[in-house]
Amino acid sequence: MSNPSLLILAGDGIGPEVMTEVQRIIGWFGDKRGLKFDVSEDLVGGAAYDKHGVPLHDDTMAKAQEVDAVLLGAVGGPKYDDLDFSVKPERGLLRLRKEMDLFANLRPAQCFDALADFSSLKTHIVSGLDIMIVRELTGGVYFGEPRGIFEEGNERVGINTQRYTESEIERGARAAFELAMVRDKRLCSMEKANVMESGILWREVVNEVAKDYPEVELSHMYADNGAMQLVRAPKQFDVIYTDNLFGDILSDCAAMLTGSLGMLPSASLGAPMDNGRPKALYEPVHGSAPDIAGQGKANPCACVLSFAMALRYSFNEGAEADRLEAAVEKVLADGVRTADLMQSEGETPVSTSEMGDALLAALDASL
Ligand code: NAD
Ligand code: IPM
Ligand code: MN
Repeated sequence: MSNPSLLILAGDGIGPEVMTEVQRIIGWFGDKRGLKFDVSEDLVGGAAYDKHGVPLHDDTMAKAQEVDAVLLGAVGGPKYDDLDFSVKPERGLLRLRKEMDLFANLRPAQCFDALADFSSLKTHIVSGLDIMIVRELTGGVYFGEPRGIFEEGNERVGINTQRYTESEIERGARAAFELAMVRDKRLCSMEKANVMESGILWREVVNEVAKDYPEVELSHMYADNGAMQLVRAPKQFDVIYTDNLFGDILSDCAAMLTGSLGMLPSASLGAPMDNGRPKALYEPVHGSAPDIAGQGKANPCACVLSFAMALRYSFNEGAEADRLEAAVEKVLADGVRTADLMQSEGETPVSTSEMGDALLAALDASL
């Protein structure tokens, strides 16, 4: 049987820097655990625009549809700020998500013990935190029509449309309930049913799906209150299910519960393919971090942990995913810190590649 295939789209800014470390880790699993992947690489975002004039070439899109999983670094950067909207780097990522129909974006926020006192919140509020945000990823205001900038009288109007069908809400809800079933069996759905019709429908559909999961304790919260509760008492949550835009914002907010945006991985999953694996793209929650790009300062852990999610959700290698997550935990416990995790001025951060070295050493020590 051929090896499972991985398409690596490192992208822009710190994307290629953190992906280099992930590539070393993929190599380690091949050499030391017999987990070989057929890895191919291609361009996305600004890097693709520079070569092809579009942020995602059709051939790359076709490849992404064929492989067992895609790993993506990050896209975007100031160099591309003035490009026409239709060819901005972010459009490449959005096209991948939409055309692969990756409707369920899993964004876990876990606070490793070693970082509990590094969060901007008090240690006891975040220590032991383990929540999962399920963000609907292919609908809502990101994709709704009409959209655009139009002339209206003597001025312009910018329009985006929040639009959700019942089936879109339902399939994401099922993914969230399934996750709750293998976790702590609690699900909090967040919308703004007090001001948005799409929120009213969201709540109705989630209540309907809940009938199939009687063991899961379901609650509803307005998303603005949810944002407040997330920083007031985040451990009240187990799984959160929310829409595309609220999920984007709430997950960046959740990053600070874990210490740094450089720690947060994600999995974007779609329907099962013929081989039973879900369509999947794994990507850190963070962006291309133009302020630190090219300086060897980026924390590769979010991207590394995204590969751990690939091991778990695409390749059924839960034990190896645990091994990789434990390696991250050990390295942090040993005090190895990239600059984003520095507690005081006096400490010396490690570079991106030194963090990679430490992770590989921890993996070796796990054998
Ligand atoms: P960002 O996530 O790139 O950076 C926000 C802050 O977090 C910066 O101070 C950055 O230095 C820091 N940071 C992020 N990742 C880090 C890491 N791994 N290690 C250490 N520090 C890290 O968000 P932004 O500055 O708002 O956006 C920059 C560009 O990235 C924009 O073009 C945006 O559209 C794009 N973006 C892309 C993705 C993606 O590709 N999935 C996600 C978010 C933003
Ligand atoms: C994310 C990013 C993306 C989003 C952008 C880059 C399209 O912020 O993955 O969180 O808004 O979904
Ligand atoms: Mn975001």
